[in-house]
Amino acid sequence: MTTQDAVPGAHRRTVVVGITGGIAAYKAVGVVRGFVRAGHDVHVVPTESALRFVGLPTLEAISRNPVTTSLYDGVAEVRHVALGQRADLIVVAPTTANTLAKLAAGLSDDLLGTTILASRAPVLLAPAMHTEMWQHPATTANVALLRSRGVACIGPETGALTGGDEGPGRMSEPEDIVAAGLALLQGRDSAGDLRGDRVVVSAGGTREPLDPVRFLGNRSSGRQGLAVAQAAVARGAEVVLVAAHLEADVAAEAAGVVGLRVVPVGTAAELATAMDAAAKEASVVVMAAAVADYRAAEIAERKIKKEDTGDELTLRLVRNPDVLAGLAEAAVPGRLIVGFAAETASDRDELLALGRAKIARKGADLLVLNRVGWTDGFGTPDNEVVVIDREGELVGEAAGSKRAVADRVLDLVLARR
Ligand code: CTP
Repeated sequence: MTTQDAVPGAHRRTVVVGITGGIAAYKAVGVVRGFVRAGHDVHVVPTESALRFVGLPTLEAISRNPVTTSLYDGVAEVRHVALGQRADLIVVAPTTANTLAKLAAGLSDDLLGTTILASRAPVLLAPAMHTEMWQHPATTANVALLRSRGVACIGPETGALTGGDEGPGRMSEPEDIVAAGLALLQGRDSAGDLRGDRVVVSAGGTREPLDPVRFLGNRSSGRQGLAVAQAAVARGAEVVLVAAHLEADVAAEAAGVVGLRVVPVGTAAELATAMDAAAKEASVVVMAAAVADYRAAEIAERKIKKEDTGDELTLRLVRNPDVLAGLAEAAVPGRLIVGFAAETASDRDELLALGRAKIARKGADLLVLNRVGWTDGFGTPDNEVVVIDREGELVGEAAGSKRAVADRVLDLVLARR
């Protein structure tokens, strides 16, 4: 069965397709049809301006449901919130710059606004606008704010725009929007073995500033942590990725993961604060970030100058708190803590010995160990790990793509419960 085939009745879900006023609104008909074909109950909520681009009768015919834009139709059945409360998924295609701004501000001056505010369903936006509007700092800030609240975005793509110009701003193709929406529904819906779980993953390398232009960093790419987050999303969990510095391609990939909430951080202290907040209601916490053990005792206000420091520069560093140890020590019932440890061990025995000492010190439930060196382990697509438990027992191992390793780690998490 492909994702676009009809689903059996029991899995028929309520999908709200919002349409806002851009030229790409004509393509929204394809989005509506895609969800109908997939067997879902589709309710279209266009804005007034969307109806200048696409006709209401078309939307009613394709969705097989009545269509209204008004807050004042169906008042008796409290339609302005009822649809949002019932929805299993809300897709807005196209999403104009104006709608992004309204959603970021939480405005609800039309049926689409009230429907989205009244809903706890996943929201997928398919922005479409001219390149200048997409790249405007106001739009960028609105998208970042919406993403930080867990709203998913697909596109825009780069290509020909209506005015004959070209650049990022083109709405993603209807079939891609439908596929992304169905993936979100499946996350909540499928036999995903992490359905109902809230998973928090840290990834990337922290950066500790020395002065306004310099920092102490490390070589973590964030790839393994992102793979854990992606695997958890695919298995139905609600996932937060606390992202220290990620390599550019990893950051771009993270931004594109539908349903993943990304919280960017810089220093170890920022990571600690973000993890504490995100981990409060988590059932699984995975510390894949490479966290700096030390930070500068003093951060210079201005650039450190050779004229002042001379031939030698001594930096005084102070210890950072250990986030993993803190989370493990809190021992919240029902919350499982997984650490990662990259060790420059010469063989597997030494790796296990270092890992056993580390988990004894930190107290995590599981510790994922891998060997690193000047050339191994960082930024590569593959990984090879062994996993030990709190008692130091070897409970599993995995080799292959970072995604395969991520899934194995999540299998071990589930086996542990
Ligand atoms: N970690 C953390 N807070 C720190 C340092 C590390 O939460 N200040 C976490 C990492 O995210 C990882 C685990 O601890 O999950 C192991 O990190 P690692 O750097 O290998 O451990 P350290 O305690 O720093 O040990 P070492 O002395 O080997 O550097």
